[in-house]
Amino acid sequence: MKRKGRYGPFGGFYVPEVLIPALEEIEAAFERFRDDAAFVRDLDLLYKDYAGRPTPLYLAGRFSEIVGFSVYLKREDLLHGGAHKINNTLGQGLLARFMGKIKLIAETGAGQHGLATAIVGALFGMETKVFMGRTDVERQNVNVHKMKLMGAEVIPVEGGTGTLKDAINEALRYWTAHIEDTFYLFGTAAGPHPYPMIVRHFQEPIGREARRQCLEKIGRLPDLAVACVGGGSNAIGLFSAFLEDKDVRIVGVEGGGRGLDTHQHCATLVKGSVGVLHGCRSYLLQDENGQIYETECISAGLDYPGVGPEHAYLKDSGRAEYVSVSDEEVLDVFDLFCKTEGIIPALESSHALAWLLKQKGRLPKETAVVVNLSGRGDKDAGIVESHRPLAARMP
Ligand SMILES: Cc1ncc(COP(=O)(O)O)c(C=O)c1O
Repeated sequence: MKRKGRYGPFGGFYVPEVLIPALEEIEAAFERFRDDAAFVRDLDLLYKDYAGRPTPLYLAGRFSEIVGFSVYLKREDLLHGGAHKINNTLGQGLLARFMGKIKLIAETGAGQHGLATAIVGALFGMETKVFMGRTDVERQNVNVHKMKLMGAEVIPVEGGTGTLKDAINEALRYWTAHIEDTFYLFGTAAGPHPYPMIVRHFQEPIGREARRQCLEKIGRLPDLAVACVGGGSNAIGLFSAFLEDKDVRIVGVEGGGRGLDTHQHCATLVKGSVGVLHGCRSYLLQDENGQIYETECISAGLDYPGVGPEHAYLKDSGRAEYVSVSDEEVLDVFDLFCKTEGIIPALESSHALAWLLKQKGRLPKETAVVVNLSGRGDKDAGIVESHRPLAARMP
């Protein structure tokens, strides 16, 4: 029998006892409403008219010419808020509403999930608090400003490296003391059960649409499905539709920071080992005593020492491959992609594009790839500028 919230040996809910009733309440509400006619009708309408689903599948012609095979972009960057995160926040926000909760809390790294939560908080008239590491507050200040415009309170978290891990710690701590009226709107397909299951469910439209659009546009399934992996939500959203199609190769791309041969800690699935973090058994970046390493990656959304349990399972079962690219490779492709496609990709999504660029000359020209363009890169312009000033990049 499949154990609750388990993906092989991964997943589970390793949380303080005080949180168990809150997680069970969310799980019960999800099971009750996921197929409820009114819930499904409301969510479908929001996906369509508010967020902008279905998103297009677009053949990136000039980029395809450069790499030598066909690259189709799943345009999640075109969604309201500028990233796939809104799929999940609309779903969980609506669930909170159906449960009668009046307050939302969330953690955020790149600020995209925080922004998507702030949007939903405003939409549903719910008080919203977003926990964000101090480093991320500084490097993603555009999103911080937008969250405040939407009426959310952004709470900077001082501990650790001031990144996503620290924001989740603080959000969980806060939730422990406020479970009665507060819904913790978790941003990725990680954390304790039922979040990996719920977040996957609300991100599944990405894969469902992409699969249908491939059949319409290419007349067949893609040879490859590729996505960047932070906690794993945009990736599992895309991959979920192709897991049973054994001929579709599935590749998740992690942030490799300054490169795997350095002593820096990054790329959880590629370099990590099994342990428990944020209520979930999965791969993580830890020392021999189980202390979590401080990670460092150019992209705030991929700067996380853990990863969702389903990805851990897909790695160990061999169904999906996980690779990493370096910050430099990401900056190279970011520049190239802006100039060849007229699209500014998020630094997170640029990881998937960077891996594709590295496949130049290695894949047959008939190859068709679907890559999740999980978000747009306006938020990252300042980071790119600080690494590679525009003046220096001009011909
Ligand atoms: C645009 C974008 N893509 C990807 C990610 C990584 O998250 P996940 O692995 O949950 O998709 C983030 C996280 O903030 C993001 O903003």
